[in-house]
Amino acid sequence: MIWQLFGVHISLSMLILVLFLLWLVWPRHYPKLRMAFIRGCGGVLLASILLASYTYWPRSFEKKYVHKDPEANSSVGTLRELADSMDFYIGMASSHDLAYPELISKEFNSLVAENDFKPGQLLIDAKNWKFDFTKADKLLSFADAQNMRMRGHTLIWGKFSGMTYPAEWQEEIKLASDKEAKMKALMRQYIETVMQHFKGRVLDWDVVNEPMGGNTLFPSVFTESMGESYIDYAFQLAREFDPDATLYLNEQITDYESEQATAFLGLLQRLLDRGVPIDGVGMQCHHLNNIHDTEALRDYIRKIAEMGLEVEITELDVRLLLFKDFEDPYQAQGDQFRKIAEICLDDPACKGLTLWGLTDAKNWMDAVPPFKWKSPNAPNIFDEDMNKKPAYWGLYEALKSKRNKVLNAP
Ligand code: GLA
Repeated sequence: MIWQLFGVHISLSMLILVLFLLWLVWPRHYPKLRMAFIRGCGGVLLASILLASYTYWPRSFEKKYVHKDPEANSSVGTLRELADSMDFYIGMASSHDLAYPELISKEFNSLVAENDFKPGQLLIDAKNWKFDFTKADKLLSFADAQNMRMRGHTLIWGKFSGMTYPAEWQEEIKLASDKEAKMKALMRQYIETVMQHFKGRVLDWDVVNEPMGGNTLFPSVFTESMGESYIDYAFQLAREFDPDATLYLNEQITDYESEQATAFLGLLQRLLDRGVPIDGVGMQCHHLNNIHDTEALRDYIRKIAEMGLEVEITELDVRLLLFKDFEDPYQAQGDQFRKIAEICLDDPACKGLTLWGLTDAKNWMDAVPPFKWKSPNAPNIFDEDMNKKPAYWGLYEALKSKRNKVLNAP
């Protein structure tokens, strides 16, 4: 989508440039034609400005929920109380500087580091294997003190060299005569250091994040040196260094009936056939460009469960703009949160649901192109003023009705 937008703007700019150059060189004794060119340039410029405004101008939707229920922010119990009563994980992603610590520990029983556990944050000097666990430990201490489960996210992630894995690894692999042996040594040292550091305190790990790139594996320094077996090896190492940890493969899928979704199931089956010690699958569930088909998600989770794997929704956020055509976009967004939570709560294989953020005031989509160019993103369950949105109540209702079902079960 970003490239389409760029494409339109680049084409328009080029057209203006060409018209301008023609105007410069156009024989001066055709004044009428010269004037037509000037008008043409102006028209194209205006169209470009209008298109840019339409594309990037933020929209806003009425917050009907703010007036709807003045009691909405009063205490009626928390998400955590409901989840605790069913041994279900309700979690959120946070940075070590933890805005709203009290609210977080009241509402959630699980935490994940938005960035602080990623290789780029932990391995601060890849040449000298120098680690810094300060930020990660701060977050983990908070989780421990509040009796919250901490998910480890993430050990190996083959996208974005220099951010999700050290750029130096790329160079080392390039120079290595035996690339596979070199990559294995790098992975072993990294996974050993990190898992031993957190051993006994972080029991659920995203061992590999986002392995897919469309219908095949995302091409990276890992696939280049080891092919698909880098995934096997990462899981084998994780099991070796902490046999008690639950090991997850985490992936973002937006269409659960797509070729990518089928290819991912194929990957899972191959890993299982090869005896790779994988325990679960994380469905990220970022809603960025489309409203996920929740019934298809339900079936997809079942398929994974039938392979003998557990599941978690690991990075749920839902972009408000996707609901622009609904009568009440905030309510429609809330309904989507509710449906996703219901699906996870309905399937015994689905152990938890983690939100990728807390408040709309600070959300990653507002910082990252192309999403930042087209707002409102507002993908979280609290709004900028910390009002509980229909998204909050959607989760609350799903948890409450499941809890009631559990209580009334014979
Ligand atoms: C992916 C990653 C997360 C995070 C989000 C964007 O889903 O798994 O760690 O970086 O993108 O914030």
